[in-house]
Amino acid sequence: MQVKIFPDHEALSSAAADIIIQLIRIKPAALLCFASGETPRRTCELLVEKSINENVDFSKCSFAGLDEWVGIPPTNDGSCHYFFQHLVLDTLQPQNAFLFNAISGDMEGECAKMDQFILQHGPIDLMMVGIGMNGHIGFNEPGVSVGLRSHVIDLDPTTLAVGQKYFKKKAPIRQGITLGLSYLQQSGVVLLLANGEKKSTVIHEAVEGPVTPQFPASIIQTHANSIVMIDKPAASQLKNN
Ligand code: GLP
Repeated sequence: MQVKIFPDHEALSSAAADIIIQLIRIKPAALLCFASGETPRRTCELLVEKSINENVDFSKCSFAGLDEWVGIPPTNDGSCHYFFQHLVLDTLQPQNAFLFNAISGDMEGECAKMDQFILQHGPIDLMMVGIGMNGHIGFNEPGVSVGLRSHVIDLDPTTLAVGQKYFKKKAPIRQGITLGLSYLQQSGVVLLLANGEKKSTVIHEAVEGPVTPQFPASIIQTHANSIVMIDKPAASQLKNN
């Protein structure tokens, strides 16, 4: 694990976009997996700008969406699907993509489809993830088994409360569907992005705390090729910064 500290969110987003572009130049048919959310939004925007300016072709790559709120339709602009569709798929136009369909009525079937998609196009070359206010990655909530592939999980109270920030009106969220941490362990590169002072406690815990399923993001410490990309406020509680 490396920790890279940037002056601000813009700088870390630009650096993350550069790493993704560098990978696509070397391996055009890479399998990418991104989180949605406030943190990676700017990276996705910059990825589009840079790929146009630098003539980078994403048309051979594949994309898997990290997670989704069970029961929320893709037309809801707070859904992960909406984010992935508008900020990644419409703009970068990868050859293959799979996003969880959170209203399918068969969540186990959605997990199986995702696992099959990754088996077919993977392993994942690069994951870009965020960190939740309870230390989750995707919807791998505290206490999750680290060996899981795609799975459905009951969301913990912190996620239920914080998660409402994505929705214009109160969303009936209860469960999440997510790639499991086994995929993170097997991914060629993992970028964990965080910005802002509000993430400083969870970044301290993830990077300098014990590695434990009680704090899922701590698994980042065990990955040989992971980069924690944070701005100065998010780094403010690190002892070694
Ligand atoms: C959400 C998602 C995660 C995301 C995290 C942080 O609940 N399930 O995939 O990375 O929480 O989100 P944000 O970047 O909006 O702070």
